[in-house]
Amino acid sequence: WPFFAPYIKAINELKAQRGAVILAHNYQTPEIFHCVADVVGDSLQLARLAAKAKEDIIVQCGVHFMAETSKLLSPEKTVLIPDSRAGCSLASSITGADVRLLKQRYPGVPVVTYVNSSADVKAETDICCTSSNAVQVVESLGVDRVIFLPDEYLGKYVQTQTKVQLILWKGHCEVHERFTGAELRAYREADPSVQIIAHPECPPDVLAEADFTGSTAHMIDWVKTRQPRRIVMVTECSMADNVAAEAPKVEFVRPCNLCPHMKRITLPKILDSLVNMREEVLIDPAIAERARLPIERMINLKN
Ligand code: 13P
Ligand code: SF4
Repeated sequence: WPFFAPYIKAINELKAQRGAVILAHNYQTPEIFHCVADVVGDSLQLARLAAKAKEDIIVQCGVHFMAETSKLLSPEKTVLIPDSRAGCSLASSITGADVRLLKQRYPGVPVVTYVNSSADVKAETDICCTSSNAVQVVESLGVDRVIFLPDEYLGKYVQTQTKVQLILWKGHCEVHERFTGAELRAYREADPSVQIIAHPECPPDVLAEADFTGSTAHMIDWVKTRQPRRIVMVTECSMADNVAAEAPKVEFVRPCNLCPHMKRITLPKILDSLVNMREEVLIDPAIAERARLPIERMINLKN
């Protein structure tokens, strides 16, 4: 903390001077999540907040597709990401050309794309979804078949919740695919009353062991409202750290898989971002015009 304090002070002062807002994903480290972020949330909450932000400058503490989403929804604003190399294995698993080929193969079948994707892929998409609204989005189309991209495991989970047939892609989250069902069974054998909650990017054998499956925001709400005695949060490491600060009576078992992309964002880089106004997220206007529509369609769906 003594090392962080000067950065936290400088960031908060400069943020006010510049009239900037800091949006941080739930996987950001506690010093970012609790000390410099103006708003925190899952992908859907951050997209909604970006669309509504009054400030002219958005500093996105998260990965590149999240900053792109903010820019698509607020094209007139300056969107900065403290390290533009913060990618995502799901976003890099598919290109716009891949989606065009799929559309040729399944003519007329609508494309639902997880927000963990590039603007190029969104430009070929009918409607976006996040892990918190995927079932609702798929069912909103009123069809019996959709192309669901790019997360195979999220797709398999959604398939258990809907009669709509999903045509899947084999993209995976490099963080959540590392968890195993055997690992979770061992936690339960050691303590049968332990609660296990998991993100739907996990493989099916992991979700089969979970007491609850939901987006990062839904997982946080679950812990805060249920206040379990002991919990295993099957997701990125910082989640347990961030919630633990707000749920002191809960004991967190921490099977920790780190997202190297999220962890590229640090206090020194956030300060540098505000001092030098970098790295600015820019999107080809022709792509942006088409990529904005599926995100707006998702945001405009009633809760
Ligand atoms: P959430 O929308 O649940 O926050 O998920 C985003 C993400 O990248 C999870 O790995
Ligand atoms: Fe992408 Fe997985 Fe990291 Fe989320 S945790 S940003 S899905 S690589």
